[in-house]
Amino acid sequence: MSAPKNVAMVGLGFGAEFIPIYQAHPNATVAALCRRDEAKLKASGERFGVETLYTEYADVLADPSIDFVHINSPIPDHARMTLQALDAGKHVMCTVPMATTVEDCRKIVEKVKETGLKYMMAETVVYSREYLFVKDLYDRGELGEVQYLAASHPQDMNGWPEYWERMIPMHYATHVVSPCLDLLDSSAEAVSCFGSGRVRDDIREKSGNKFAVETCHIKFKDRDLTAHIWRFLYDVARQYRESFDVYGTKKSFEWTLVEDEPMVLHTAGRPEKEIPEKIEIPDFADRLPEEIRRFTLPAEIQDAEHLSFLQGGGHGGSHPHLVHEMVSALVEDRDPRPNAVTSANWTCVGLCAHESALKGGELVRLPEFTLA
Ligand SMILES: NC(=O)c1ccc[n+]([C@@H]2O[C@H](COP(=O)([O-])OP(=O)(O)OC[C@H]3O[C@@H](n4cnc5c(N)ncnc54)[C@H](O)[C@@H]3O)[C@@H](O)[C@H]2O)c1
Repeated sequence: MSAPKNVAMVGLGFGAEFIPIYQAHPNATVAALCRRDEAKLKASGERFGVETLYTEYADVLADPSIDFVHINSPIPDHARMTLQALDAGKHVMCTVPMATTVEDCRKIVEKVKETGLKYMMAETVVYSREYLFVKDLYDRGELGEVQYLAASHPQDMNGWPEYWERMIPMHYATHVVSPCLDLLDSSAEAVSCFGSGRVRDDIREKSGNKFAVETCHIKFKDRDLTAHIWRFLYDVARQYRESFDVYGTKKSFEWTLVEDEPMVLHTAGRPEKEIPEKIEIPDFADRLPEEIRRFTLPAEIQDAEHLSFLQGGGHGGSHPHLVHEMVSALVEDRDPRPNAVTSANWTCVGLCAHESALKGGELVRLPEFTLA
């Protein structure tokens, strides 16, 4: 067995959730914690029993004992911090999205190629129990041929940190893009997006975006398939939802309209009233090392009051799967899933979608460097 991989956890809002999981993982050690607020950093160190504490990210990168950083800082910092870590010879796990410009995605993909270091975007949806359930159905042929996919991520960001007011809905679209593309192990080739409605003036001025809703069609590469995704951040009345629907020739999966109600599976060829079936989604903790299985359960969430969990339903039990995927990729010296190219494709769908919306729905092709 190889030596445990030393992670530095950077950004301890939602990021703090991952600390006990790394600590329990048989192949990982939490070697350092980093956040800007010194008092809060000290409190985190005491709470989790971590002694090496940094308020300066540069000090994390200068620490030779760190194998990889797990970046969970605010969105505008993701690209810069990722590039700095790669320059310092550290592998990177970074929360979504990869970056907020196509150019920064390109730089990260190129640097990963150049350095041979590993990069993984910590996309929660593709490790959620709902996604793993649908993927399992698809892999076993139970859905038949997939004909169409749809995904939505309405989320009222009032009450979130101020930087969200400067965000554009489609610049945070990976939760809806990723299940559609990953299910079919495909990439996006082009997008067409429309903006709809209007946000209030202060949000429009801060973000430079006037649309309340962005609604986009994704054309899959080398397949006769399209997915429809939509997003909003402000000024639309709807409960939070991170949904995806998959329509197959034999079976289709549809997300519930209201949080905590059962998902629906439709089966072709049955009498009309028997086509839909309300289903229970199993947990997939048995795919994980025994020591971290409990972390798929909501009871293990560290900060249940963090808005991300109040709105995010515990992210479908994905956290230990993300940790295990990154650590396993390092131990086995293979690319994590999603790797840099895939993460760039998923992120650039949203970036290109907004560009399309600004051009009245014109088709925008994904850049070549994002096509696997
Ligand atoms: N489902 C998901 O994948 C999901 C859910 C929630 C949040 N997120 C992502 O997590 C990130 C953080 O969100 P949050 O809600 O935890 O925010 P937050 O504001 O609660 O926490 C941000 C943390 O980053 C730290 N930080 C900021 N700049 C730093 C720097 N330069 N060096 C070191 N630490 C720094 C802050 O001290 C704080 O601990 C966002 O990028 C968001 O997109 C992803």
